[in-house]
Amino acid sequence: MSDKVTLEFNGNKYDFPVVEGTEKEQAIDIKTLRSATGLTTIDPGFKNTGSCESAITFLDGEKGILRYRGYSIEELAEKADFLEVAYLLIFGELPNDEQLAKFHSDIKKESHVDEEMKKILDGFPKSAHPMGVLSSLTNALIAFNPSSVNVSSESDMYHAIVRILAKFPVLVAWTLRKKKGLPLDYGDDSLGYVENIHKMMFKRPSEEYKCNKIVIDALDKLLILHADHEQNCSTSTVRIVGSSHAGLFASLSAGISALWGPLHGGANQAVLEMLEAIEADGGDTKKYMAKAKDKNDPFRLMGFGHRVYKNFDPRAKIIKVAADEVLNDLGIDDPILAIAKGLEKEALEDPYFVDRKLYPNVDFYSGIIYRALGIPTEMFTVMFALGRLPGWIAQWREMRLNGEPIGRPRQVYVGENLRPFVEVNKR
Ligand code: CMC
Repeated sequence: MSDKVTLEFNGNKYDFPVVEGTEKEQAIDIKTLRSATGLTTIDPGFKNTGSCESAITFLDGEKGILRYRGYSIEELAEKADFLEVAYLLIFGELPNDEQLAKFHSDIKKESHVDEEMKKILDGFPKSAHPMGVLSSLTNALIAFNPSSVNVSSESDMYHAIVRILAKFPVLVAWTLRKKKGLPLDYGDDSLGYVENIHKMMFKRPSEEYKCNKIVIDALDKLLILHADHEQNCSTSTVRIVGSSHAGLFASLSAGISALWGPLHGGANQAVLEMLEAIEADGGDTKKYMAKAKDKNDPFRLMGFGHRVYKNFDPRAKIIKVAADEVLNDLGIDDPILAIAKGLEKEALEDPYFVDRKLYPNVDFYSGIIYRALGIPTEMFTVMFALGRLPGWIAQWREMRLNGEPIGRPRQVYVGENLRPFVEVNKR
């Protein structure tokens, strides 16, 4: 392999090094491009741009591979729990018993949220979308934890990290409880991390909380599958906001907003609404397939297609099996699952989808499981955010420890050239 690329421009030749990752991905290092040639690059949507070197998540979209810190997503989903995966993503190695116990204990010590935060939540109408509420509350946490902003040492970083891992689930639970008109509670430190989240979300005031292992296992698996996905829209947002040294919670709040959109994490809500609409419309999947293919119709088959996966999304494969298992174990017969499977079958045989390499993504089946777990549709993207939290944290920490410069892309200006100001009465 050549270790450089030569660019010829205006009669001059310039060499740029080729860097190679541990999985043999190659990239042209253009750090000196502008200073050497005067040129910049243009790449809308960053389809060809590597924004950083990262040792966290490896993804091969052609082969349908996803690994966290070298471990396959299939193995992690089967054998690990969410807190172990969070530790792995953030600190690079799977924790031993002692490390995991300390991590969990440090998180538990931070599991209170200032009571004043309830007043902020109170100010939102019940109809507010939970993602907007969650993003706002995450930002509001800064006011009550100012020391989490200036992180000049790894120890400061650690404290900011355990704080948010402790408080974020409380905010998620409060967001749901507010929607349902339930009292705002705190967690139960005697429970596991995910079980505690479930209890905080669903405990009813007059009933004893009973945990259902099938539900907790399903939740664990979903959170693990969402935990990181390298430089996607929300993660790039977290890194770029963090690159200004704005602080972890502010960076996460921005990431939550980025995740909200229907082309990103918001797709899980959009998928379920689409499946419900198809059901309400008589279950005619062919009609919706035709709409998805019609270029004059803005409708897209939500939960299909991916910027990077052009073979299959390995998370979707795991979630599809899990959806069957969970519904079966809970004795739920959901007609929406049959519609989803019908749509998938048709799409996988349709030249429009085959030619464009459009396969079901992580969001296609996840909503069906969330629904079976009693999570309201508007909360689906919040669940995605809960799962993605460790990934965002890991990426933010890596960016800060690597001392990455502030993110500041360039542009190619295509507006007006210099022109004289015209007084208002002469325009
Ligand atoms: N339904 C119908 N056509 C589609 C779809 C779809 N879901 N997705 C892509 N296409 C078509 C698109 O119209 C285009 O066709 P043409 O080449 O004729 O113009 C072609 O496929 C390529 O699409 P693109 O929009 O250029 O691809 P992209 O890489 O910019 O977008 C995507 C990727 C995920 C935004 C897009 O596939 C999409 O909008 N999917 C539906 C929303 C969705 O499920 N998002 C969740 C993504 S996975 C979870 C996450 O990580 O956030």
